[in-house]
Amino acid sequence: MKVQTITTTPFSGQKPGTSGLRKKVNVFQQARYLENFVQAIFDSLDNFQGKTLVVGGDGRYYNQQAIQIILKMAAANGFGKVMVGQNGILSTPAASAIIRKYQAFGGIILSASHNPGGPEGDFGIKYNISNGGPAPEKVTEAIYEHTQTMGEYRIADLPSIDLSQLGAFTQETFVVEVIDAVSDYAELMETLFDFDRIKELFQSGFAMRFDAMHAVTGPYAKTILENKLGAPVGTVMNGIPLEDFGQGHPDPNLTYAHELVEIMFGDNAPEFGAASDGDGDRNMILGNHFFVTPSDSLAILAANAHLSPGYKDGLAGIARSMPTSKAADLVAEKAGIGCYETPTGWKFFGNLLDAGKATLCGEESFGTGSSHVREKDGLWAVLFWLDILAARQQSVAGIVRSHWATYGRNYYSRHDYEGVDSHAASALMDNLKHQFEKLVGKLFGNYEVEFCDDFSYTDPVDNSLSSNQGIRVGFTDGSRIVFRLSGTGTEGATLRIYLESFESETAKQDLDAQIVLAELIQIANEIAGIQKYTGREKPTVIT
Ligand code: G1P
Ligand code: ZN
Repeated sequence: MKVQTITTTPFSGQKPGTSGLRKKVNVFQQARYLENFVQAIFDSLDNFQGKTLVVGGDGRYYNQQAIQIILKMAAANGFGKVMVGQNGILSTPAASAIIRKYQAFGGIILSASHNPGGPEGDFGIKYNISNGGPAPEKVTEAIYEHTQTMGEYRIADLPSIDLSQLGAFTQETFVVEVIDAVSDYAELMETLFDFDRIKELFQSGFAMRFDAMHAVTGPYAKTILENKLGAPVGTVMNGIPLEDFGQGHPDPNLTYAHELVEIMFGDNAPEFGAASDGDGDRNMILGNHFFVTPSDSLAILAANAHLSPGYKDGLAGIARSMPTSKAADLVAEKAGIGCYETPTGWKFFGNLLDAGKATLCGEESFGTGSSHVREKDGLWAVLFWLDILAARQQSVAGIVRSHWATYGRNYYSRHDYEGVDSHAASALMDNLKHQFEKLVGKLFGNYEVEFCDDFSYTDPVDNSLSSNQGIRVGFTDGSRIVFRLSGTGTEGATLRIYLESFESETAKQDLDAQIVLAELIQIANEIAGIQKYTGREKPTVIT
């Protein structure tokens, strides 16, 4: 195998964020751009000679070309083996599961998650470590430093590998194994949930729709729901991964998964509906004319986890990101287990899962997961719901309402102001920080401010401190308003406002969240001066 060392120069702006490096496709298509980043990944790792790397992506445009480059570079840099999903496909949670199962050194996942694909869309690359989770900050920092200083990359003259055929390709001591993208993941799901019980549910005529949004979960959902669990063919919609996701925006929420939403809120709606995003880590859960907020979903999964084989011995603890509603805390409290409030972003859950402190984790942004992998997992959440529906023989709405009756309801909403001027957004946050003292004890109608702070988190495992993670305004009745600037946006700033209020009375638990939260929305405007700073009358997106 001939290895070439090619001279290169650093590119600016190759700084990976918490979800890796994400850019427009045409940026990645520049000569040496991908190669530089891949070499920077390898240069930041030690002792991987002869070891195994897992590679796969969400099937978006440029996935296949990128994989061929990565295979040649992995060979040149001394990996012994690369396991790659058939047709270059691996969902993010499946990649995590495969890294763990085969004790691989790490993995490269090609995805820009829920962002649109196609030649005009986005592409992305991220590195996951041997626990199956995203690289921690010290690794992404090292990658970035290498991108800034590197002068060459190494590439081998392997022929292009046919990724459509399962099997091994060997060149001297280097092996590429094209693996079934679904089977290891499906096997893992079978250990967690009672497949026989779910099969019976489908046999009894239970109807569901799963919207794969033309993205990576199509083959996973078809194999598991239709082939293994016997759901009728057609249960999975938009199930063939397309390079441009059918020109859609593969983000499972009420706005972008509108095709599914119309079915679930239409005549003859099925009992259960769900969707997942581009790379398969997000989920949305719907019942017949019913939307389950991700915060409630986490709490309900936690409260019912003992019904599923994988969690029958109970949970070690529950972790949620700070802006996620406190519904899960109430479940943890009743169960007498640990509850962790982390900053936004999945990476903060990794240490808690590795240390056995938490079993379930979730974010309000349609992300839920557990210790079975080190990524959030969309289809896992869907199967968890199915297992609970099969065990309880109740409707989705029935399960949610009975949860509220037991624990109370945390009314919840997120208001996003997208594409705001960055300076204006920072000024708004600074202004809020200067008001903390003045606000405490202040009355707004029925609401009295109990505390204000800028959330910081000390990791209970490694004691690392993360500050400036969002402004919390807490009221004496337990209501909250949280203000944060998004860390993932690409244009200007996105201001996120999270609103939460608690209702213990069953008779008042079936109201419209926007109406219940109207007074808090008003207070948020008043204390933050949203209109004044952003010039906006109303949010761009309300969830
Ligand atoms: C958003 C979500 C956050 C999630 C992240 C990556 O980040 O709010 O919960 O972890 O995407 O999927 P944000 O744009 O708010 O920084
Ligand atoms: Zn995703």
